[in-house]
Amino acid sequence: MTGRIIGLGSYIPKKVLTNDDFASFLNTSDEWITERTGIKERRISDHLNEKPSQMAIEAAKRAIEDAGIDPKEIELIITASTTPDMVVPTLSCIVHEAVGVSENCGCFDVNSACPGFIAAFNAAQGFFETGHIKLALVIGVECLSNFANYSDRGTCILFGDGAGAAILRAEDIKRNEFIMRSSGARSRCLRAEAARQPDRWNEEGFRESTQFYMNGKEVFKFAVTEVPQIIRDLADKFSFDLENDVDYFILHQANARIIEATAKKLGIDRAKFPMNIQSYGNTSSASIPILLDEMKRDGRLKPGMKLVLASFGGGLTWDANYIVY
Ligand code: ACO
Repeated sequence: MTGRIIGLGSYIPKKVLTNDDFASFLNTSDEWITERTGIKERRISDHLNEKPSQMAIEAAKRAIEDAGIDPKEIELIITASTTPDMVVPTLSCIVHEAVGVSENCGCFDVNSACPGFIAAFNAAQGFFETGHIKLALVIGVECLSNFANYSDRGTCILFGDGAGAAILRAEDIKRNEFIMRSSGARSRCLRAEAARQPDRWNEEGFRESTQFYMNGKEVFKFAVTEVPQIIRDLADKFSFDLENDVDYFILHQANARIIEATAKKLGIDRAKFPMNIQSYGNTSSASIPILLDEMKRDGRLKPGMKLVLASFGGGLTWDANYIVY
């Protein structure tokens, strides 16, 4: 059995932060940000009614409606987030109550930075493969504006907030293949300390270290090397042809140049690599389900299409999936 996506939903905060808004308080410009990242604007949570749990609930409700299912049938909720507003209960349990799921349902969260949605999706597939569940809700949600350092022009301009969700239903055919990779040894280029470390509260610079630190150049090099490689390895391992057997390559929306470089290295038409980074920036684990939802709503995504999903980020972690939508 494989869990097939039968419903998608997303929530994007209302407040828009443009490149020109950044230029009003940082030494940067619309031209620099657009040229280096492809980002024109991103959405930022109001931090009152658009907390990660609230955005996750809204995305989940929309995915449930899109799937046309009764939420009481959901047997598993997995939420991916690096920036939750609650540690206990999990975001999954908060969604569980809000959307009216029965107690016959497992709930847990995962944190795998930007590839979090793919990690959650693959964890759910394990439950489908053993035949233990028939319906799951998988969510990716982030409020990166809570962790961005707004005096560091090299990182804060990248991030946006949002949530995306998918309903998966068991089907009796193989529809998911994947490779997941990690390198703890290369973790230093992307870091944020947990805020609650009482023994360190008086340490100089501790407060700043709870915000995202990123060595952009290193992450960029890592991404343009490992992402094309893992996609090639996926095609070799599961014997499909990248040019003829894939309708779309849905990549984590981190930087348009990373996506363009991946298309170029693989020798695949750039048109097969959809992007919405210009409007939302890098929404980490929410970027893939937000893009899938957008593509479903505008008619680009059709049942039966073959997709490569690929993501990369803190950890370092990087994953690629080959799925039939
Ligand atoms: N505006 C103007 N100038 C800037 C800005 C800015 N916003 N940011 C950096 N600069 C300057 C630098 O200070 C530097 O100036 P200098 O040469 O005088 O020292 C110059 O521009 C070049 O800086 P670089 O860091 O070398 O710029 P680069 O071309 O590498 O672009 C960027 C930076 C956009 C961050 C790029 O490295 C990148 O996208 N990296 C990948 C980031 C990523 O994908 N992260 C995903 C993971 S996030 C997660 O897991 C949560």
